[in-house]
Amino acid sequence: MRKPLLAANWKMNPVTGATALELARAVSPAAAEHAGQVEVAVFPPFCFLESVAAALVDAPVGLGAQDCYWERSGAFTGEVSAAMLAGWCDWVIVGHSERRGYFGETDEQVARKAAAALEAGLSVIVAIGEREAELEAGETDLVCSRQLGAVLEVLTAADADRLVIAYEPVWAIGTGRNADPAHAGATMEVVRRRLDGAFGTEAAGRVRVLYGGSTNAANVVSYVELASCDGCLVGGASLKAEEFSSMIGAVASVEARQAIRPAPPDPPTGEGGRGIRPAPPDPPTGEGGK
Ligand code: PGA
Repeated sequence: MRKPLLAANWKMNPVTGATALELARAVSPAAAEHAGQVEVAVFPPFCFLESVAAALVDAPVGLGAQDCYWERSGAFTGEVSAAMLAGWCDWVIVGHSERRGYFGETDEQVARKAAAALEAGLSVIVAIGEREAELEAGETDLVCSRQLGAVLEVLTAADADRLVIAYEPVWAIGTGRNADPAHAGATMEVVRRRLDGAFGTEAAGRVRVLYGGSTNAANVVSYVELASCDGCLVGGASLKAEEFSSMIGAVASVEARQAIRPAPPDPPTGEGGRGIRPAPPDPPTGEGGK
């Protein structure tokens, strides 16, 4: 079973270290209360990583950065390497649409970042998602498959445990226009199938897939209820401690409900598993099947 993850992408907020500490401390109680059902991680700006880490030392809250560079060290003014981050946090986001859109990051660069982060021992959230024009052109699956494919090309099944894919339609980010859960679910199914194809079903089953884009306490359940969704990457709502704490509680309640729901019967396996219904005929294979 994949544990749901609520990841708080603070973006370039808040402005002061004191407010960052306040926010981190304010979400800790809900994270602690529901630690059995939900994993929580916060992603402050680089400059607050150290102080937020200290504030969260006893809290079950993961810590991550919002970006990294793939080279280990060198003359790359302004960049922070994945290897450097490994000393300060456990997580990093790569490929966020704001990095792709405002800073021109390509699929290939995002893939290099993901590989470097995993190599450095970090867990990685790779963000993918279509723009509005691409949605309207019916290209959602195509765009997401292309973005994901570039990353999967440089990773292996051994990376599955520390890999998270966040499906974030660009038009839904920060707009209040959260995606219809049916659209999000269908796209996350496409992501799951790509993961299955790249890693094999067993390893792919360990990769978590999140939805992101205008999530809040009122709509988070409609995503985490989906079989293909393992949590959310949260922007704006994660800056409001009360709202984000409610989201943690809401996700925990979905988990609790799903845990008590009786497990579906095992799929038919071998002779004993077919029950009273006659087994369907084998599908035609080769010569004899025609
Ligand atoms: P939002 O941002 O929740 O404010 O839409 C999500 C994100 O950018 O990760």
